[in-house]
Amino acid sequence: MTETNTVPVITIDGPSGSGKGTIARRVAEALGYHLLDSGALYRLTALSAEKNGISLDDAEGVAAIALGLDIEFDSNEDGSERIWLSGEDVTQEVRKESTGAGASTVAVIPAVRAALLQRQRAFQMAPGLVADGRDMGTQVFRSAALKIFLTASAEERAGRRHKQLKDKGMGVSLAALSRDIEDRDRRDSERSVAPLTPAPDARILDSSGQSIETVTNTVLGWVADLYS
Ligand code: DC
Repeated sequence: MTETNTVPVITIDGPSGSGKGTIARRVAEALGYHLLDSGALYRLTALSAEKNGISLDDAEGVAAIALGLDIEFDSNEDGSERIWLSGEDVTQEVRKESTGAGASTVAVIPAVRAALLQRQRAFQMAPGLVADGRDMGTQVFRSAALKIFLTASAEERAGRRHKQLKDKGMGVSLAALSRDIEDRDRRDSERSVAPLTPAPDARILDSSGQSIETVTNTVLGWVADLYS
């Protein structure tokens, strides 16, 4: 499948807890671009499979679920996200650590990745798109105008995830979270299909010790460079 769309895309890939989602949202807002949270599609696939009694090891069954996903991304008045799956509000469930682990499990299935490809590319609409995930720059939007690989130390990523979940009222221990992040990093990086790795033409951005504003401004500076 080729990419013929000329609408500009900025890809932000990186490991769990690197801050991709937050930075992607800020950058999209600043530029007035659309946003693709590709991880949510894998999370919704895992969640939908579970709700339909399909085992996450059943490659064909899960791929069929991915193809037929009935989802809607919406936002509340305060700008926070709202996600619907087959008419059910699954906003909280989607962000659970167990859903993230399920997403990482189904993400190794090539037929699932293929099933989600067109759905992801359909987000490329004017005036532009910011796409975050693991393989945005290497697979889904190979001709993106700007590719970023966002990293942070493992300790900092676990700490950020911990705070994020706590703020959402979901309690989980930091030690368990660190183990979970390590497992997920390993599975995402070692899988044979679309592993987590920077695109050769990606800019690496280490956000350890940097504020959201600083990282956002670095990205916006790179975007400005594209057009200067
Ligand atoms: O970014 P996230 O935590 O919402 O992603 C959940 C899982 O989905 C992640 O562990 C791996 C998988 N994923 C993927 O394989 N490819 C993507 N582009 C996005 C997420």
